[in-house]
Amino acid sequence: MSERPRFLFVTCQIGAERAVKGELAREWPEFRPAFSRPGFLTFKLPENHHLYGDFDLRSVFARSYGFSLGTAQGDTVDTLARNAWEMVAGRSLQRIHVWQRDPGAPGESDDTASLIGNVEEARAAIRRHCPRADMLDADVDDPRQPVPCGEFVMDCILVDPERWCVGFHRAKAVPSQWPGGIMPLELPPQSVSRAWLKMEEALRWSEFPIAKGARWAEIGSAPGGSSQALLQRGMEVVGIDPAEMDAAVLAHPQFTHIRRRAIAVRRRQFRKIRWLAADMIVAPGCTLDAVEEIVTHREVNIRGLLLTLKLSDWKLADELPQYIARVRGWGYNVVSGRQLVHNRQEVCVAAQQQPFRRKPTSRRAGG
Ligand SMILES: C[S@@+](CC[C@H](N)C(=O)[O-])C[C@H]1O[C@@H](n2cnc3c(N)ncnc32)[C@H](O)[C@@H]1O
Repeated sequence: MSERPRFLFVTCQIGAERAVKGELAREWPEFRPAFSRPGFLTFKLPENHHLYGDFDLRSVFARSYGFSLGTAQGDTVDTLARNAWEMVAGRSLQRIHVWQRDPGAPGESDDTASLIGNVEEARAAIRRHCPRADMLDADVDDPRQPVPCGEFVMDCILVDPERWCVGFHRAKAVPSQWPGGIMPLELPPQSVSRAWLKMEEALRWSEFPIAKGARWAEIGSAPGGSSQALLQRGMEVVGIDPAEMDAAVLAHPQFTHIRRRAIAVRRRQFRKIRWLAADMIVAPGCTLDAVEEIVTHREVNIRGLLLTLKLSDWKLADELPQYIARVRGWGYNVVSGRQLVHNRQEVCVAAQQQPFRRKPTSRRAGG
């Protein structure tokens, strides 16, 4: 029988390390911080833990996590790959994820990526030295294919040029199906802002049950990348922003612009809206104030929320449990947070009412 893993690995955005440590100190006080690098952390697990490969770490800032079996060391990719296979010997793993810790903070250039390692080269070496015929299928390590939920994945993280972290996890939700929790998304050339990526990632991560034609409002919609992501999925979107929307978004027949601040929009205008997104460059408390005003109004029935909370200071990360509790207090019983790959110093909170019930006093409206 394979030994119980003694360490946990976590990868996160560069800068979020302290936030990860804070979350784990709160949720898992018995985990002890061990080796770390920017964007990569490990924790020593308690001796007799009973954690499974798909346990929920309950962390907003951990982009990916799993059990660490140790570090492969070597001065060539072939030595590293051979070591990696030795470390997973005896474990029944079906897929392979290879990725590297982030080379820089979001928005910084990727120039330092090659100083950490070459993911393609590493993947090829792992394949070359694979001792198991059953793991040589073409798609076992294909980073463009999500791992089916329930399968066990060998994780190989390029930490330094001569050091790979080797571990495993069991795929159970959208992010854990992709290497490093990074789903392959490409900004379409017609997108008017990078917020397209953020919205698309949020929709895939949250797995909201949204039908074509669903009505959305977005507070902080200009210039319009995230509205475009919704429109492309066939949604109707009301964008609320005092700033100018891009002409391409304004011209879309399913888009309406209310050129005002959220506070100045009459509540009745939300009566037919079922989904609300907010992406304002203001403190989290202000975003929550603006959203609360709307969703708690007796004539408004919003089923789900996607909120971007800007952390102008990383210390605000400690307030996340309170922010999430506040959202729950509005009647959203399924609430989770994640620092998305396309988030900068901010996080996404997804909230849903399940099942969805309109407020008893409200007049019926379509949706
Ligand atoms: C990060 S940008 C939004 C990007 C946008 N989601 C996109 O897809 O391109 C933030 C926007 O929030 C808007 N904003 C700030 N305070 C607001 C308020 N109280 N009501 C509505 N919009 C607001 C700003 O005018 C700005 O355009």
